[in-house]
Amino acid sequence: MSAGSNTFEDAKAVVISVQESATYRQKFDFYSSWAENYDNDVAVLEYRAPTLAANSISKHFSGDREKAVLLDVACGTGLVAKQLKKHGFGRFVGVDGNEAMLELARGIGLYQELKQSLLGDEPLPVHWADSFDAVVIVGALCRGSVPVATVRDLCKATKPGGYVCMTVRSNIDNLEYKGALDRELKQMEEEGLWICVEVIEVKDWERSVSEKEGRYIPGVVNLYKKI
Ligand SMILES: C[S@@+](CC[C@H](N)C(=O)[O-])C[C@H]1O[C@@H](n2cnc3c(N)ncnc32)[C@H](O)[C@@H]1O
Repeated sequence: MSAGSNTFEDAKAVVISVQESATYRQKFDFYSSWAENYDNDVAVLEYRAPTLAANSISKHFSGDREKAVLLDVACGTGLVAKQLKKHGFGRFVGVDGNEAMLELARGIGLYQELKQSLLGDEPLPVHWADSFDAVVIVGALCRGSVPVATVRDLCKATKPGGYVCMTVRSNIDNLEYKGALDRELKQMEEEGLWICVEVIEVKDWERSVSEKEGRYIPGVVNLYKKI
């Protein structure tokens, strides 16, 4: 099928296709065909995660926003950087596994560096340790995308005193993954790697594509501060 459109029914079909892709590789490759229509489709789905993540970082960040360098992991087409820019942040580095998504991110002209990396198979570059004033991952912490273990890399890449913002859907399909993520975040807090700043639970995270759920599915913004 051709991926993407601007109606809710077609956007829903695209999301169901990506969820039902049989293998990890198929799911990942799907973004190549979706890239061009991604921004329109997620707008139809009332996808608010980039706005909610940017609001959370902005609420707590007290440094110089123009000088701060932020790492946007699984940056996709760049929706998160666009939201952060509205809050005065000016310097972004992006990582994504999919070249078609990265090409669109390149086009918005906000990222000083964009790197292709398939997280899970590859770690974040070691020389990024303690480098970023904030690290953000939106829309990619779910089964078949970015593995839970990657959050340790996100913490490593953050400067001491910097923030790590991680969103996760909390609908039925993602509950098992979210449970594993919550355990890892807590474990890392017990290890003294970071402290939890806020956990924002949002009922109307984005439109549901499943008949089993209501009109909206819920989601969570997790904000941590590296020690
Ligand atoms: C739903 S999009 C979210 C993009 C963007 N953060 C946003 O909120 O609009 C998920 C993105 O994660 C990327 N992605 C999924 N799994 C990945 C992995 N293991 N490593 C790197 N990128 C991955 C996809 O290529 C896609 O661009």
